[in-house]
Amino acid sequence: MKLLLQILVLAVIFTTLYNEVNGQYVMVNYYNSQNDPTCKGEIITTTFNIENKCLSGVEFTCNGNEIQVSFYNDSYCSQGILQQITQENGVCQGGLQFNCVDNYQIPENSFASVISESCDDWKSTAVSILSKPLNTCLIIPSENAVIYSCTGDVLTTSTYPSANSCFGIPKNTTVPLACKSSPDSNYSNSYICNQ
Ligand SMILES: *[C@@H]1O[C@H](CO)[C@@H](O)[C@H](O)[C@H]1NC(C)=O
Ligand SMILES: *[C@@H]1O[C@H](CO)[C@@H](O)[C@H](O)[C@H]1NC(C)=O
Ligand SMILES: *[C@@H]1O[C@H](CO)[C@@H](O)[C@H](O)[C@H]1NC(C)=O
Repeated sequence: MKLLLQILVLAVIFTTLYNEVNGQYVMVNYYNSQNDPTCKGEIITTTFNIENKCLSGVEFTCNGNEIQVSFYNDSYCSQGILQQITQENGVCQGGLQFNCVDNYQIPENSFASVISESCDDWKSTAVSILSKPLNTCLIIPSENAVIYSCTGDVLTTSTYPSANSCFGIPKNTTVPLACKSSPDSNYSNSYICNQ
């Protein structure tokens, strides 16, 4: 499984380097140190957002070798753009790395929060995926240190008293590993563990 994932990761890199970029998802890797100019450290979060779709007022577009992120004034993306940022495909900028890819993946030993168009068919209707590593102390700038873990049918977030270490007694919150449809939106939200 590990080898397969490594091959998948290589395939993604290979595709983005050597083929014309026309991915269906924009992948963003967030590295542990915001000032890490090389993006060689630990990835603390990975997101995949489907291209050219309004996602709560934000839209991602792959445009040649560039990725545009448009922030709209309203959640339906109908009231004009407030701000737009452009990132080069595959280039590390400020501890962030953007890539256009053909599909999303949930890394091994991670959990994911998946926004999809339905619960029954979340795998093929996923529009936005956020994943973070499990069972490791995550130091996130300007937040308290956390460890995520999956046991039985819950995802536990243990938030530590300190911002830069996982010492002391954490506060724990849990969410069920299940899919929920929200009555006031057309999207569903699932929590998934891959461990
Ligand atoms: C954004 O929306 C607010 C409230 O509707 C409005 O006052 C403002 O002018 C809008 N800004 C832009 C850039 O459209
Ligand atoms: C949270 O969970 C950890 C690990 O199971 C435990 O050591 C800790 O006491 C819990 N925190 C609280 C406030 O119960
Ligand atoms: C949900 O979808 C329906 C049909 O496409 C649409 O009329 C409605 O405005 C949508 N609701 C929200 C909250 O986006």
